[in-house]
Amino acid sequence: MKIAMIGTGYVGLVTGACLADIGHTIICVDSAVDKVSALEAGDIPIYEPGLSDVVERNVGAGRLSFTTDLVQAVADCSVIFLAVGTPPASDGRSDLSQVEAATKQIAKAADTSKLVVVKSTVPVGTCRRVGRILAKHGGGKDFSVASNPEFLREGAAIRDFMSPDRIVIGSSDDKTKHVMHDIYAPFAERGVELVSTTLETSELIKYSANAFLATKVAFINEMANLCDATGGDVSALSRGIGLDRRIGEAFLKPGPGYGGSCFPKDTLALTILAQEADCPTRIVESVVDSNSFHIRRLGRRIADFCAAAWCEDSRVPLVGRRIAMLGLAFKANTDDIRQAASTVLAPLLIKSGAEVVGYDPEAAQAAAAEIDFLETALTMDEALEGADAALVLTEWDDIAAINWEKKKKLLKHPVVIDLRNLYDPAKMEALGIDYMSLGRPKPH
Ligand SMILES: NC(=O)c1ccc[n+]([C@@H]2O[C@H](COP(=O)([O-])OP(=O)(O)OC[C@H]3O[C@@H](n4cnc5c(N)ncnc54)[C@H](O)[C@@H]3O)[C@@H](O)[C@H]2O)c1
Repeated sequence: MKIAMIGTGYVGLVTGACLADIGHTIICVDSAVDKVSALEAGDIPIYEPGLSDVVERNVGAGRLSFTTDLVQAVADCSVIFLAVGTPPASDGRSDLSQVEAATKQIAKAADTSKLVVVKSTVPVGTCRRVGRILAKHGGGKDFSVASNPEFLREGAAIRDFMSPDRIVIGSSDDKTKHVMHDIYAPFAERGVELVSTTLETSELIKYSANAFLATKVAFINEMANLCDATGGDVSALSRGIGLDRRIGEAFLKPGPGYGGSCFPKDTLALTILAQEADCPTRIVESVVDSNSFHIRRLGRRIADFCAAAWCEDSRVPLVGRRIAMLGLAFKANTDDIRQAASTVLAPLLIKSGAEVVGYDPEAAQAAAAEIDFLETALTMDEALEGADAALVLTEWDDIAAINWEKKKKLLKHPVVIDLRNLYDPAKMEALGIDYMSLGRPKPH
């Protein structure tokens, strides 16, 4: 099938490349000229493992192309996917301006009937609204709308797209449903379940899934804090509950709180749309609170831990101290820093008088552009050299594999704060490192 993908960001590019890989012909459209020029020149504008191979293979096979010309792409295709951004507005709602603008453009560009598939994460009711915009601006042409939320995770996007747990399709008529089933037929043939439902339910499934996963993250962080307060060990706790198949082991690792471009905005948007429906989601509201409380509390704990390790009794222990921040992306294997822990903790530490030097194999440039007064280092050693403490935020392989026996020599003070529980507390103690992790007792 010939498909236009409007929006060639993390989701649009992966979806476009993977749909091409299963045999469709995809025209990826983006309004960002530099992004399209880079893609046309064979450069991938984001860091996503495995993506460049899939893009290269399908461009070579003539199934994948890039353009800024939305009008031509819409004219050439009967199915149009919308994968534009839905960032948080200042009031916490989803900002749907990209969805609305692109929908109007599609309506005006369409010459015949089109199916518009909403892949962006949108609040319940948006697909109907897209339908109304198409009807209003489409000059009597026949449009149908489907909802097809995306569940891929950055850093594992190709694997997630190609081997999904399920594919969710929302529609309001059988013809649309059948076209969607045709698009995803190669997955269904491999036994992937296509969950077909209404537009509204499909939209809600995406928010429910993210809210549920965010709840697991916030929950295990609270349990880690409780372990710290009572002498428990969150690693054993996590295993002890995660092996219960009703609970499951995924998303039960403590950390600096959930971040990224999805969980924070989607949980908040869900609470707002639920309040507006006069049906508040108290659990999700608590999760949002818990997550922001957790990271702010970590900011205080980091300062207290450092003060104790440096034997600093001043009330402003961080003033003039140099902190090496290891990992700036919101998680490993991505260059995405949207709502990353670094974007909260670096400003907090800098405001407290510290000098923060960040290292990240892929996200340093984006972080330096986003975080005022953040210095960035080209190598991990450069960040660690002369630092008063190392603060580990992202579980990149090279950070997880640090040989602290060697690297501690670079530090001015052997202080390591590990918000991903990457290292063995007993080994760190044996090396004479003042080591803080989350919810794990000090070795005896
Ligand atoms: N990033 C993720 O991990 C992820 C996962 C699942 C779902 N989602 C959802 O998918 C959607 C897209 O997310 P993303 O991270 O890919 O966003 P993104 O910001 O990386 O990409 C959006 C792209 O759309 C382009 N665009 C906007 N308006 C356009 C228009 N009128 N015509 C052509 N191009 C246009 C932008 O230039 C940008 O390149 C969001 O709703 C998001 O919540 C994201």
